Amino acid sequence: MAGLRLAVLISGRGSNLQALIDACAREDYPAEIVLVISNKADAQGLQRARDAGIATLTINHKDYADRKAFDDAVDAALKDAKAGLVCLAGFMRLLGEAFVERWRDRLINIHPSLLPAFKGLATQARAVDAGVRVSGCTVHFVRAAMDDGPIIVQAAVPVLADDDADALAARILKAEHKAYPLAVRLIAEGRARVVNERVVIDGVKPIEGVMLNPPDPAAKRPSLFEFFERQRD
Ligand code: GRF
Repeated sequence: MAGLRLAVLISGRGSNLQALIDACAREDYPAEIVLVISNKADAQGLQRARDAGIATLTINHKDYADRKAFDDAVDAALKDAKAGLVCLAGFMRLLGEAFVERWRDRLINIHPSLLPAFKGLATQARAVDAGVRVSGCTVHFVRAAMDDGPIIVQAAVPVLADDDADALAARILKAEHKAYPLAVRLIAEGRARVVNERVVIDGVKPIEGVMLNPPDPAAKRPSLFEFFERQRD
């Protein structure tokens, strides 16, 4: 449906793009994708966009003299499309400070870890190597530093004993496909606001609880989640 005008920037597979396409197809979803930009002509995500009838553009960084020229081309395309929110979804180029400032609080990213842990690449392999019991994903407003900025949504998943990086990545990816559409919805509905570099979420009842991994074997019905029996007002 109509609503907040999204542009999605990708470099590859585009499964998060697909999650946003699917969300936007729902009657009550307050956003629409007006443009998908890839820096790679063969990105699988471009086909997903075409299949959904969404305008696509390839802006190949190799065609530009420097980062600023590339950023300016992306900026111009976003303005042409009258984008209201720019969603990075597996976009593998760092955007310069000037671009990030121009789109401040209108530029978001998804990252496959619970930030600020495991910034950068190969997050899932590093989480397995570190032996953490919980990992997940983060949707955040973008700032100039890599994988930095006010956090909108996080989703946590257990890291299981026999996980390798691929198994953990697959579990995190499922969480990503829930977290990204939620974050966009919160922004589109005006419920997510940046205040003093933290995101305030309005009009959502918080639920308190504990996620235990491993589950407590002494519990009657072992579960990862132990919710307190109350919502806070
Ligand atoms: C995701 O894991 C995302 O968190 C990271 O890059 C990956 C992109 O996957 N930034 P896809 O292209 O959305 O399938």
